[in-house]
This record gives sequence, structure tokens and C-alpha cells, in this order.
Amino acid sequence: MAPIPVLEQYPEKALLDDGSEVKIRPLVPEDKIPLLKFFEQIPETDRFYLKENVGSPEVVHRWTEEMDQDRVLPLVAVVNGKIVADGSLHRSRSRARRHVGEVRIVVDHHYRQKGLGTRLVQELTNIATDLRLEKLMLELVDRREDAAVEMAEKMGIRRVAILPGRIKDMFGASQDLVIMEKLIELAKQN
Ligand SMILES: CC(C)(COP(=O)(O)OP(=O)(O)OC[C@H]1O[C@@H](n2cnc3c(N)ncnc32)[C@H](O)[C@@H]1OP(=O)(O)O)[C@@H](O)C(=O)NCCC(=O)NCCS
Repeated sequence: MAPIPVLEQYPEKALLDDGSEVKIRPLVPEDKIPLLKFFEQIPETDRFYLKENVGSPEVVHRWTEEMDQDRVLPLVAVVNGKIVADGSLHRSRSRARRHVGEVRIVVDHHYRQKGLGTRLVQELTNIATDLRLEKLMLELVDRREDAAVEMAEKMGIRRVAILPGRIKDMFGASQDLVIMEKLIELAKQN
């Protein structure tokens, strides 16, 4: 796989709020088993609302062995060889939609509320800026992914639409889908 220029700055060290350190780097094919283990220990109450069935070995195989960096740029945070967070930037191939990047992110429970989610979104924003994308968006489930909504709002990513009842939660109840967006700073694109 040819190296992608925007990923050449990695690995990077990130200092978390509790003083611990993680390494942030692109996902590689050798991460298949560690990534499966990472998603296995994410509670079903979180996994249920992710866009893909990350508990499935086939899905993780596709992500690691059949990477398509034209569509997805995945980063992981690693501590002593263990993956503790996964964040990715997704793009459509359609020329009409390719200026928008969608961020997806999951952090290990033991590493939450230490600034890691925020740092990964910042990294993905920098990558999106380098790729000259114009908008960053997240699709989040109201009342089920409120930590992510809070995090996004704190980062200046705003609610732009609500799709009422678009989601069925794990109890079969309807929940709203919240679309959050941020314009990528043009100043950085010069
Ligand atoms: C959303 C998620 C990625 C946040 O990761 P994190 O590393 O804990 O986030 P941060 O430590 O950077 O938190 C940043 C801000 O988000 C908010 N936040 C984070 N967790 C929160 C929680 N449980 N409740 C309320 N607000 C929360 C806070 O405002 C926090 O700032 P503060 O620490 O100064 O109070 C993590 O909770 C997660 O993996 N959730 C499950 C998966 C998910 O919902 N992903 C989104 C789908 S794309």
C-alpha cells in the first residue's frame, strides 16, 4: 500500500489529562486481532449504535486487510501494544459529496474522559484540513451517544439537523439521529 502523505506525520504521542501517554498512528493490517479485542470489550450498550457491526471478525478483517484509504482513513491510539481508541475519517467517492468527511470514534472505557476522544477528533480534523475537505460531520444517536454529542459541541461542532425516530434503540424504542457539522477553517487551507 502506497503511503498517504497526510499520514506521514504519525506516529504521534498524546499526553492525556491524567498525565498518561498514548501513541496515535494509522491502523495497519497487523492490528486485526488487537482491534477485534478492542471492540470485544466495548460494552454492547455502546457498540449497538455504531454504524458498523464492529464485533464481527469479517468487518474487522475488511478494515485491516482490505483497507481502502480513498474512502476511510483510520487512526488508533495504542498503549503497550493494546488499542485503546479507534477513530476514522470517512469520505464518499462521489464528487458531489467528497468535500465532506464523517468522523467515527470509540474510546476504551478505561481511557474515557481524559481528553483522548477530543484529541482523536482534532487529529482527524487536521487530516481533513490537509485533504482540503470543507465540512466535518458526525451522526449521533440522541440520548444514547450523548457523551459524543457533548464532546462534539465542546469542539465547536454544531447540531445542524435532527432526524426524528430514525434510530431504533436496543430496547426497540425510537430515538432521534443528530447530525452535527463543522466547517473546516478556510484559513488553514491556504
Ligand atoms: C464519545 C467518546 C468518544 C468520548 O471520548 P472521551 O475520550 O471520553 O472524550 P473526552 O475525554 O475528550 O471528552 C471531551 C468532552 O466530552 C464530554 N464528555 C465526555 N464523556 C462524557 C460523558 N460520559 N458524559 C457527559 N459528557 C461527556 C465532556 O464535555 C468532555 O469534556 P470534559 O472532560 O472537559 O468534561 C466516548 O465516550 C465513546 O467512545 N463513546 C462510545 C462511542 C460513541 O458514542 N461514539 C460516537 C459515535 S461516532
